Amino acid sequence: MKDQTLSNKNYFIGTGNTDSERLRIINNVYNPVTFQFLKESGLSSNKNVLEIGCGYGHTAILIAQQILPNGKVTAVDYSNDTLEIARDNAKKAGISNIDFISMDINNLGLLDQTFDFIFGRWVLEFCAPVKEHITNIYKLLKSHGVFVYEALNLINSGHFSVPKSYVVQKWCNTFIKIGEIYNSELALADSIYFMLKDTGFKDIYARRHQPILTTPEEKTLFRLAIINSKANLLKNKVFIESELNKYIDELKSFENNNNIISGFFNNTLIRGFR
Ligand SMILES: C[S@@+](CC[C@H](N)C(=O)[O-])C[C@H]1O[C@@H](n2cnc3c(N)ncnc32)[C@H](O)[C@@H]1O
Repeated sequence: MKDQTLSNKNYFIGTGNTDSERLRIINNVYNPVTFQFLKESGLSSNKNVLEIGCGYGHTAILIAQQILPNGKVTAVDYSNDTLEIARDNAKKAGISNIDFISMDINNLGLLDQTFDFIFGRWVLEFCAPVKEHITNIYKLLKSHGVFVYEALNLINSGHFSVPKSYVVQKWCNTFIKIGEIYNSELALADSIYFMLKDTGFKDIYARRHQPILTTPEEKTLFRLAIINSKANLLKNKVFIESELNKYIDELKSFENNNNIISGFFNNTLIRGFR
């Protein structure tokens, strides 16, 4: 399939170099549990896997290693500049069984093969309405194939800090506001079970995972998300520039305060079989 040049008017976070450090850290935080769930869901040698919204390739690389010797990953993302970094990450990891394709989730129906395993994390949230994508995913699965998704909820995200800090609450409110403006599927973690059930998926199983950020590097996730969405936060008047810069300084103090820890997005991990 040929690469397409695309833009997504519903995605408000930066792509390419802008967001690669944040996604590297977030992958370090979530991947041990994500990968355990993938293995429990049947990820094993020789599977033909599709990953939707693969970002910088961190999970595609883990999957590619798990399905050797004859398995293949098709990893799609709409952003060409992000995919360039993903291809480089795979090369550095010595992985050659991933085909990175620039494709919008809206065009999943154009894929001309079926898969044993389809995985996605934190992408359908930016592709409302989601139900039709779940239908396409179902059609792309072989009989008894499995779909695994990791979803977040922007409204009831589960964030907290100990001791309580207003910067965390402000961060959550900011992403609810910008998510509403960009028509995000704000509560996907709550609705995805019913979407899978209504589509016809069988043996659906779901559970939750919430990491607790303790190191300064982990806690930069808050500040980096704001910086990497800065252009769209200002464009849509969620902040004025002076207020935003002040808030970024506050987030910096928060991450360097060793006496504060914070619960990040409480994710739903879900799987269902065709
Ligand atoms: C929050 S990142 C998550 C990346 C990756 N799944 C991970 O867990 O590291 C969301 C990704 O979805 C991609 N994306 C957003 N909207 C998309 C769309 N309509 N079609 C394909 N990819 C999309 C973005 O370019 C970005 O790489």
